[in-house]
Parts: sequence; C-alpha cells; structure tokens
Amino acid sequence: MRVNIRRMTLDDLSQVVAIDQASFSLPWPERSFRFEITDNPAARCWVAELDGRIIGILVLWLIVDEAHIATIATLADFRRQGVARELLVHALKSSIEEGAVSAFLEVRESNSAALTMYRKHGFVETGRRPRYYKDNNEDAILMTLERLNTISS
Ligand SMILES: CC(C)(COP(=O)(O)OP(=O)(O)OC[C@H]1O[C@@H](n2cnc3c(N)ncnc32)[C@H](O)[C@@H]1OP(=O)(O)O)[C@@H](O)C(=O)NCCC(=O)NCCS
Repeated sequence: MRVNIRRMTLDDLSQVVAIDQASFSLPWPERSFRFEITDNPAARCWVAELDGRIIGILVLWLIVDEAHIATIATLADFRRQGVARELLVHALKSSIEEGAVSAFLEVRESNSAALTMYRKHGFVETGRRPRYYKDNNEDAILMTLERLNTISS
C-alpha cells in the first residue's frame, strides 16, 4: 500500500475529525485540531493519505527535546496494514531532526493494539496515571522511548 505521509492542513479537518470520532470514546472537538494546526507552535500534525483520502492521523507535541505523541489513529478499514507504524516512524524521525532525543505518550491500559505497537518500537512502560480517562476512569499507562534515535522502520 503506497501511503503518503504529509503535514495536516485545515482542508483536512473534516476527514481528520471523522477518523478521530470513529477511533476514540473521547474524541477531540474540531476546534482542538484547528488550534493544533494553526495556533500551537509545539504541534506537529501529520496525516497518512492514500489516493487523496486521509486514512491516518497523528499529532505530536515537541517540547524542547521531548516528543509527546498526543494522538494517533488509523481509519478502521485500513488497520493492520502498517499505516500507524509509518506515521509514527515518520513523525518521530522528523522530531529527531528538530532536536528531540526522547519520546513519551499515554495509552489506555486496555488498548492492547496500541500497547503492542509502542512496545514494538521500543517504548517501555514507565508509569501510570490513575483514572486519567474521564469516560470510564481508566488508568493511563505512561510509555517512554528514552533513546529516540533507536527508532527504526
Ligand atoms: C492503534 C492503531 C493506531 C494502530 O494502527 P494500525 O495502522 O492498525 O497499526 P499498524 O498496522 O501500523 O500496526 C503496527 C503494529 O502495531 C501492532 N498492532 C496494531 N494493531 C494491533 C492489534 N489489533 N492487535 C495486536 N497488535 C496490533 C502490531 O505489532 C503491528 O505490527 P504487525 O502488523 O507487523 O504485527 C489503531 O488500532 C487505531 O487507530 N486504534 C484506535 C485509536 C487508538 O487507540 N490510538 C492509540 C491511542 S494511544
């Protein structure tokens, strides 16, 4: 599958919001994506595109030398085909070029697909945020990749 990874623009908003809403029980409002694209200097917003259609999204916050994966999702029909992996590796490699040396993220403890993906890319569990998710009071697992330059596709 030939997927193109590029930066998210305001023209992508409706497709981005649709993927987010279909993927999360606490989706971001459209204004949050709008803010990330236009007003947040720390945000790096990416999409995966196939034949002009957006099939994956990723938002990363770059704070000094730390990359924080804020959200990542793949359109359901296109999962298990390497889309999130491509987004993740692309976004992290780009953040290395901008000076990031480590990366971290929060993930629901029940999200085995995401946990597996992150472990596969070298992230390790370094903490837990109790009752982090307000819809069901689920804990977040904090995962960290201390040596970001070990990331590989
Ligand atoms: C998690 C998610 C982004 C993965 O996207 P994807 O495009 O299907 O992922 P990829 O095909 O790139 O998979 C990369 C690796 O992750 C792991 N993985 C992905 N989905 C998995 C699943 N359902 N079960 C087990 N492992 C899984 C595998 O190790 C996989 O590699 P492999 O296919 O070579 O075995 C996707 O399931 C999704 O959008 N979920 C809803 C939103 C979400 O939970 N986001 C993460 C928030 S922290």
